[in-house]
Amino acid sequence: MVQALIDNSSTWASSIATVRQWIHEAQHVAVLTGAGVSAESGVPTFRDDTRGYWAKFKPEEMASEAGYRKDPPHVWRWYEHRRAQIARVQPNAGHLALAQWAHQHPDRMTLITQNVDGLHQQAGSRDVLSLHGELRKNRWLNRRCAECDLDNPTPGEPPYCPACGNLLRPAVVWFGESLPGATWAKAEQAAEECQLMLVVGTSGAVYPAAGLAKIAHRTDSRVVIINPHTSELDSVADHRITMPSAQVLPLLFSSLEL
Ligand code: OAD
Repeated sequence: MVQALIDNSSTWASSIATVRQWIHEAQHVAVLTGAGVSAESGVPTFRDDTRGYWAKFKPEEMASEAGYRKDPPHVWRWYEHRRAQIARVQPNAGHLALAQWAHQHPDRMTLITQNVDGLHQQAGSRDVLSLHGELRKNRWLNRRCAECDLDNPTPGEPPYCPACGNLLRPAVVWFGESLPGATWAKAEQAAEECQLMLVVGTSGAVYPAAGLAKIAHRTDSRVVIINPHTSELDSVADHRITMPSAQVLPLLFSSLEL
């Protein structure tokens, strides 16, 4: 047992030393994050067997335009619940390590996230490429009329435009919708041009986001996966660190010698 622990910890230490060296060598590092990076802040993931959102809710009901149109109050209340949830949590050591390193090494990191919780931005990361939108923001469900004012909707579940009845919806990307074009273009370019991509806390199940790791792999970047469990992107990984990201990221990005 003791020997197993020593073996494990020396394997982790050597993995971390290798990836630290890769970070040092890379002119540009792209980081793709998913729900797992916020797990240790207390935000549920989507595909965790028991506690993930999709273990309790149907994505076609809660994360599609058709689902919203079918029952707007029900879906709106779920997003309000998620907003209350993220208002109670704080960025963790993983979010902070990424933000700090990017500040110390200007123009060497592109941070791409599938998360809508805003915790990277709260940790101080700038220019985050939010592929799936932002939970704290709203937009109109239908084409806006001259009176549609995002700052002054009539309160309701959901709030609506008093002139035309247009409904607010959360400014997140739902299944079947396109990713924001300019954000995607920047993410794709970073995946093509980086020398190292870290894929952190994502199951790799949702495209096109997951495809970024494959682009990086195809264009000869090193790919490192940080995830305590297996993911659908493991086949493109040059290295996997199977530990929680709030523990690993500070070890990878701290300036102290290990
Ligand atoms: P998932 O829930 O699919 O995957 C989360 C991943 O995080 C899993 O592979 C876990 O093993 C891993 N994980 C859990 N705890 C972790 C920790 N402490 N450190 C590191 N990894 C950990 O979430 P995503 O891959 O982000 O889309 O899901 C992608 C998209 O699917 C989401 O953006 C969302 C969802 O439907 C939209 O809402 C549009």
